[in-house]
Amino acid sequence: MNRPKRKIPFFSISSSGILIILLISGIATSCSKDQSLNAPELTPFALEIPKGFPAPDIPADNALTENRVKLGKMLFFDKALSLDSSISCGSCHFAEHAFTDPRRFSLGVNDSLSLRNAMPIFNLAYNRSFFWDGGVPTLELQVLAPIENHLEMNLSLQEAEARIKQNPQYRELFRKAYNREPDLYGLVRAIASYERTLISGNSKYDKYVYQNDKSVLNPSELRGMQVFFGEKAECFHCHTGFNFSDQTFQNNGLYAEYADQGRARITGRNLDIGKFKVPSLRNLSYTAPYMHDGSLNTLEEVVQHYMSGGKNHPNQNPTIRPFTLTPEEQEDLIAFLKTLDDSEFVQKHSTIK
Ligand code: HEC
Ligand code: HEC
Repeated sequence: MNRPKRKIPFFSISSSGILIILLISGIATSCSKDQSLNAPELTPFALEIPKGFPAPDIPADNALTENRVKLGKMLFFDKALSLDSSISCGSCHFAEHAFTDPRRFSLGVNDSLSLRNAMPIFNLAYNRSFFWDGGVPTLELQVLAPIENHLEMNLSLQEAEARIKQNPQYRELFRKAYNREPDLYGLVRAIASYERTLISGNSKYDKYVYQNDKSVLNPSELRGMQVFFGEKAECFHCHTGFNFSDQTFQNNGLYAEYADQGRARITGRNLDIGKFKVPSLRNLSYTAPYMHDGSLNTLEEVVQHYMSGGKNHPNQNPTIRPFTLTPEEQEDLIAFLKTLDDSEFVQKHSTIK
């Protein structure tokens, strides 16, 4: 087994980028208070929190307002944030796929291939870390990674800032949102604000459990729920809580040797090789292919993988071990997983673009 060679995440931030991060995160300035408190247009954004979901943590310096969310959405779909103005965040995070990419690896500028399968964007307001390896601690900081990444948008942060400054529409919107000129400080906060509004919690499962509508699940889905929460399949040990992720990093036995070291890229520890963030299982009908490298195309393949007990990497979690489900139980389990689809969420965001 290889030792992790470098402790760097998949994106690398240049030294000028580090200075910019300090500036935008308010460490090098006195921006710890919300600067826009004296801005005129501060209508709070009415975030709808589904039944059974906790209130998400919103950073004190980036309260959600209508104008911030509106600005963030424009920036999210703005191709000017890539070197040749061909790619926006939305070019890899498609609303109709719960904001992920149906391709195994996404195409960035100059048709370069991403190194991992894109992740969906919903319920991120609840997450403690971002990316498959958890290498980024906040949604605001995450925004910089794809802009600078040479395989994705490949634009220097200085150039990104220069471009938004030139756009008169942004001048007006940044003033309304953050009471300042277009800059990276507002850009990262606006995009993060938009992402925080993407909450998905109206699936059949939610109706059954949190809205107490016991008629929504059919017998097969109910049997599948027993399998999911049972001690044979053990799915719930990691895919747990309202978002079906305990947010830990686990090796689920996908490979005997990992080409992508996963969490070990961040921590440098051998014990973390092949560990990836436990993903939410919501909206799986929209988010194929599956796993960090998009190597499994269908839910049938996923269930086969877990039944096989994995490839026995030394870091494989001990709950991943061989088990047998009858063909009917396999179908039931998949039927249950599909009760976590929230078609309303997908449709709502696909139509308003
Ligand atoms: C070229 C394709 C591409 C573009 C463009 C892109 N992303 Fe991504 N995104 C990815 C991939 C691939 C990952 C997974 C990367 C990893 O884990 O190393 C990802 C992961 C993420 C995550 C982490 C989600 C989680 O659950 O941890 C967020 C948030 C995100 N992207 C937002 C954005 C935003 C905002 C933009 C625009 C500024 C953007 N992306 C542009 C491909 C892309
Ligand atoms: C030991 C913790 C653990 C257990 C138990 C577990 N999983 Fe996972 N699951 C993970 C991790 C970690 C990943 C991501 C692995 C990767 O990308 O390499 C994952 C990925 C998935 C994915 C892909 C999601 C996506 O967005 O790509 C599905 C579907 C899935 N698991 C379903 C299940 C089912 C069904 C069970 C029970 C049979 C189960 N899991 C048991 C940890 C676990």
